[in-house]
Amino acid sequence: MTPHSPRHNALTENEYKPQRQTGFGCHQIDLYTPNMSSLYLDHFGLKRPPFQITPDPDFFFSGGRRGDILSALLHVATHDEGITTMVAEVGSGKTLLSRLMIGKLPADVCAVYLANPFFSRDEIIEAISRDLGLTGLVASMEGKLAALQHELLRRHASGQRVLLVIDEAHTMPIESLEEVRLLSNIETGQHKLVNIMLFGQPELDDLLAEPKLRQLRDRVIHRFDLARLHADEIGAYIDHRLRAAGWTSARLFSPQALAQLVKVSDGRARRINLLSDKALLAAYAQGKESVDEHHVISAARELPTVRPGAAGNVQQPWANPVWQIAAASLAAAGLYGLFLWASLPIPGGGTAASTAEKMQPASSPTLHFDTSLTLGPRRAN
Ligand SMILES: Nc1ncnc2c1ncn2[C@@H]1O[C@H](COP(=O)(O)OP(=O)(O)O)[C@@H](O)[C@H]1O
Ligand SMILES: [Mg+2]
Repeated sequence: MTPHSPRHNALTENEYKPQRQTGFGCHQIDLYTPNMSSLYLDHFGLKRPPFQITPDPDFFFSGGRRGDILSALLHVATHDEGITTMVAEVGSGKTLLSRLMIGKLPADVCAVYLANPFFSRDEIIEAISRDLGLTGLVASMEGKLAALQHELLRRHASGQRVLLVIDEAHTMPIESLEEVRLLSNIETGQHKLVNIMLFGQPELDDLLAEPKLRQLRDRVIHRFDLARLHADEIGAYIDHRLRAAGWTSARLFSPQALAQLVKVSDGRARRINLLSDKALLAAYAQGKESVDEHHVISAARELPTVRPGAAGNVQQPWANPVWQIAAASLAAAGLYGLFLWASLPIPGGGTAASTAEKMQPASSPTLHFDTSLTLGPRRAN
């Protein structure tokens, strides 16, 4: 693939437009929030920041069925036709999976990735057309649709599949979702010209349950659930990320620290990263060689969300002695403002639920590989 191929454009053009991502903050924080790891890298002998909250493929953890789900998504993207949904809580790894999948697609699948689903009907068609390389679009919706259809037919004739991937789809206006359904209708008689994947938080299910969207709901051929990480998976996840960051020794987090992380992380990767980063910073601020339970407790206080069983017991960062020490280090490094900024609430950090969601057993007749761990039937309407 050349740097100017449509697929490349599709990814880069939409990914880095934070100014257009108004109305929800996940992506802005995903892509632009640094963490404090640079302060403790040398102290712990790490080569790279281990717990950044950017969707970095180098750190991909395939446990917790993530690897299987990635394979299943790739299979669907290359074989099936229709609409697929991927539903998971905020910070579970949807965006990372969608980007990894796109990065692994064969050359005959052209992916159009929309990071900003807050598009209107017109904007969706425009964004897709632009990402497919169409220029000089006419003003009328009919004209735009005709040009897009022509391009889709051309690509189909040359043996190319077009995959539309929409992230944060739970925030889409109903009219735009309806436009997506109309797109999924375009076909040659034998084949759909656009396959669609909607990635979103559990509210996506509620949205699709709207009576107005029953036709769209009816076209969903697969629904994936991305479960929270279980206790043992959280330990493996942390170990995996530390090793990817250059950690070579036996143990950096004590068993008690890990047990505490399990309690306060809600099994969501982004929250685990934030907590682990802050716990490492707390250990560093105390000059410790490893992370212990109280470092994780301090880290959890640092996140202004209510911890399980501790309703209302949210402590401000500056009231915590460990963070006063850390803040002093940061101020010395000229980074205190950044520290406060990085301590802002994580988006959507809700109540913790220790019971992990389970994958549904496979029942889709359209799949011919072992999906028992990864694919479920679409939810009953
Ligand atoms: N399977 C994974 N392996 C490694 N890191 C992950 C994984 N899933 C999530 N993460 C980390 O958690 C962060 C949040 O994941 P993201 O894909 O943005 O979640 P979502 O889109 O569900 O809100 C990612 O940027 C990444 O740092
Ligand atoms: Mg996301």
